[in-house]
Amino acid sequence: MITLSNGERLEFLTGSGALGFDGRGWWWEYPLRWLGILNPHDFAIVVKTLTLKPRRGNLRWYAPWRCVRLIPGGTVNAVGLTNPGVDWWIRTCYPRMKRMRLQIVVSVFAENAAEAQAFAEKLKPLEIAAIELNASCPNVPHESAVAHVRALAEALAESGHPLIVKVGYDQPYTEIARAVEGVAEAIHAINAVPWRMVFPDKPSPLANLGGGGVSGEPIRPMVREAIRRLRETTHLPLIAGGGIYTLQDLEELWALGARAFSIGTLFLRAPWMPNRLVRQWRERHPTEYNGSGPHPAQYPPDAPAHTPHR
Ligand SMILES: Cc1cc2nc3c(=O)[nH]c(=O)nc-3n(C[C@H](O)[C@H](O)[C@H](O)COP(=O)(O)O)c2cc1C
Repeated sequence: MITLSNGERLEFLTGSGALGFDGRGWWWEYPLRWLGILNPHDFAIVVKTLTLKPRRGNLRWYAPWRCVRLIPGGTVNAVGLTNPGVDWWIRTCYPRMKRMRLQIVVSVFAENAAEAQAFAEKLKPLEIAAIELNASCPNVPHESAVAHVRALAEALAESGHPLIVKVGYDQPYTEIARAVEGVAEAIHAINAVPWRMVFPDKPSPLANLGGGGVSGEPIRPMVREAIRRLRETTHLPLIAGGGIYTLQDLEELWALGARAFSIGTLFLRAPWMPNRLVRQWRERHPTEYNGSGPHPAQYPPDAPAHTPHR
């Protein structure tokens, strides 16, 4: 469990995109939600990444397979940040999520510090748990230079909301984590991994869209490597995500130093499983769930207490 400076607690998050823009999930998941088999209240809902202006990307609601394919053990996607923009989200999705009493994390993609500032202004008055900076989408060209991410993070932190920085395996993620200490309150590792890094000798089924990003089982070793390296370099609390399907995945990532978890592809492949997994974890770790015991965000235990910059 990670406790943010505003008192919000993060234990399980949805991977951005897993339950759409408002936590209700994608249309084919609605019946499972109505039956209570998929319960978004077990998670902090990380909204599918928003941009300042609407972005067409590659996703068409009538043909999602154009840019999302199942592969053995996981998925490859080249959605490319399709979204109707942050103003639409504030108007349409935010009130619905508040009515549903969901814990909201808004994922944003900003091209530059001016855009990040504009996001901060728009999100400032909202009641949300945190903002997540998506600095790592594998399907859009992004400037991953450390100073660039730090500048975006600083601008977003002006919103007054706790900030999570989501990093990618193809980025200098340890340097980024160090650079945002004092600005961000947690690091989320990792985003989908570019196809060429996972399968260098195999053509991607989405080669026509740049190859796409791989999620699920194939990126498990990379997530573990990233969490281990991050734990050695930063005192910021870590959220681990990528191929979490089983209790063993949770235990391994916890042992490596992760203190919260995100679940994405499992919602797509077996949407009845994520809630089951949360239940199993909470049964096995009741102390952690109740929030008693040592402050879990403080890791290693002798690390200085984290005071975010405002
Ligand atoms: C179809 C699809 C859409 C995604 N959209 C986003 C997105 O908008 N923003 C983002 O930060 N990550 C996005 N992701 C990445 C996931 O949030 C997650 O970080 C990644 O898939 C690894 O976790 P997993 O193996 O549990 O899916 C997307 C993944 C998939 C499969």
